[in-house]
Amino acid sequence: MPINIAMDGPAGAGKSTVAKAAAKTLGFIYVDTGALYRSVAYYAVSKGADCKNADEVVPLLAEITPELKFIDGAQRVFLNGEDVSDKIRTPEISMGASAVSAMPKVREFLFDLQRKIAAENNVIMDGRDIGTVVLPNADLKIFFTASPEERARRRHNELTEKGECITFASVLAEVNERDHNDSHRDIAPLKQADDAILCDNTELNFDQSVEKVVSMIRETISRKEQQMR
Ligand code: DC
Repeated sequence: MPINIAMDGPAGAGKSTVAKAAAKTLGFIYVDTGALYRSVAYYAVSKGADCKNADEVVPLLAEITPELKFIDGAQRVFLNGEDVSDKIRTPEISMGASAVSAMPKVREFLFDLQRKIAAENNVIMDGRDIGTVVLPNADLKIFFTASPEERARRRHNELTEKGECITFASVLAEVNERDHNDSHRDIAPLKQADDAILCDNTELNFDQSVEKVVSMIRETISRKEQQMR
């Protein structure tokens, strides 16, 4: 029986880097479900569609075959056979993904693929609705977050290190806008599952966050092993 860990939380909390490192330590597959929503947005943008308009986005789903491949433990996302993993990491696609992910047909379209991966592998699955919708019976649910200001501060550092000239205020506004979109949509909004454990890493550094997540997962594994004896 594979072990499924659901890791949900808002954008920019460091979920992906922490989950990736924890998965590597534990020999689990790290699944970034946001990449699937991003690949839909990427396709819509490439076809000139308005990501906020379901009438324009939904018909395109019939033309899309997304796939997740795990190469040397790292996830790559393929869209109709093309590796788009790097192209989906732009601010335009971030906002587009937030918009298309509010569409029920888009969520339905990506649901089976996520479930199938979890049924076949030990996973840490990172998203917004993994504990509430995709894997309601996950062995462990972690709601991983940090304050909006701290998330904006980290993102702002990342961007300025890359040489981008952007104000902290505009990064914070973008963080707040995405939080609002992701948690106020009607379908599968971002919210902590009742049985999820809150992991707030505002005051933790990267290593401490990884250590905390790894130890929570190790406890879950040993509990499960005991139950199966
Ligand atoms: O995790 P991310 O920033 O790459 O996600 C991109 C968008 O996709 C984000 O705005 C919310 C959405 N998303 C979602 O609705 N459900 C998921 N399981 C993962 C991401």
